[in-house]
Amino acid sequence: MAKDREGKDFDRKLEEMGIRIKDENTRKVRGEVFDEETLLALYRLVHRKKISAIGGSISTGKEANVFIGEREGAPVAIKIYRIRNANFKAMAEYILGDPRFASVRRSRKEIVFTWTKKEFANLRRAREAGVPVPEPYAFERNILIMEFIGEGDIPAQQIRSVGLSDPATAYRAVVDEIKRLYQEARLVHGDLSEYNILWQDKPYIIDMGQAVTRDHPNAGTFLIRDIRNVNRFFSALCEVEDEEALMREVTGGAIKRLGDRDR
Ligand SMILES: Nc1ncnc2c1ncn2[C@@H]1O[C@H](COP(=O)(O)OP(=O)(O)O)[C@@H](O)[C@H]1O
Ligand SMILES: [Mg+2]
Repeated sequence: MAKDREGKDFDRKLEEMGIRIKDENTRKVRGEVFDEETLLALYRLVHRKKISAIGGSISTGKEANVFIGEREGAPVAIKIYRIRNANFKAMAEYILGDPRFASVRRSRKEIVFTWTKKEFANLRRAREAGVPVPEPYAFERNILIMEFIGEGDIPAQQIRSVGLSDPATAYRAVVDEIKRLYQEARLVHGDLSEYNILWQDKPYIIDMGQAVTRDHPNAGTFLIRDIRNVNRFFSALCEVEDEEALMREVTGGAIKRLGDRDR
C-alpha cells in the first residue's frame, strides 16, 4: 500500500538523520505533522545536537503538536507548529502589531516561522524576568525545543486537572506571575487560562506565542481578558479579587479599564 511505503520512507529518512521515533502513536501522526519543511528543521536540530529522539505525543492542539523528546538522555519538550493547519491569519494579526516582528514577509510559512521565533523570544524574556516558564533551548523554522515540565517522563498537568490543595495560595501565585510578566518582562500573555498554566508544586506559564509587549495596541485588552479568565477559573475554588483592583495592581495604575492604553 502506498501509505505503508510512505511510512517506511519516512522512518528511513528519520533514521538517516539520526532521529529515533520512540512511540507508536507518534508514528501515526507523522504524515500530518512531519512535512518536508519540518523534517528539515528536525534534521538541523539533530545536527545542532539540540535533540536526539522524538517520543510520545503530549498534546495535539489547533496549531501545534507537542512531543516529549530527548537530548543527552534527558527529556525535552518539542513543540511543532503545523505549517498546513496553522491558524495563520490570526498569527499574522498578532505579529504585525508587534514592533519586534512587524517587518516580516507575509507568506504562510514565514508567519509560522516568525511565530515560533516569537514564542522562543517571549519565553526567554519571561524567563530572564524570573517568571516560571519552560526554559527555551532552541528553535528552528516551525519547531521550538524547551524545558520539559514534569517528573521523569510524566508531563505536569494543566492546572484545571489538578486537585489543588490550597487554591487561594495558587491563585495568589498566578496573579503574582501575571504581575511579574507585566512589570519585569513587560509582556502580556494574551491567552492565559487554566489550559496554559501547568502545575508542578507551583504554576508554570506556557504557550507564549501570542504574548505581546506592553506597547502593543491590544496589550490592555489582552491583559484584562487574561485576568478575567484566571478569575473565572479560580472563582469556583476560592475567593478572587476585584478585576479592576487587579488591573491596577498588575499595571501599577497604568491601565485601569478596558480600552485604556499603556502609555
Ligand atoms: N514544556 C512543556 N512541558 C510539559 N508539557 C508541555 C510543555 N509545553 C506544552 N506542554 C503540554 O502541551 C500542551 C499544549 O501546549 P501549548 O504550548 O499550550 O500549545 P497549544 O498552542 O497547542 O495550546 C500543554 O497544555 C501541556 O499539557
Ligand atoms: Mg495552550
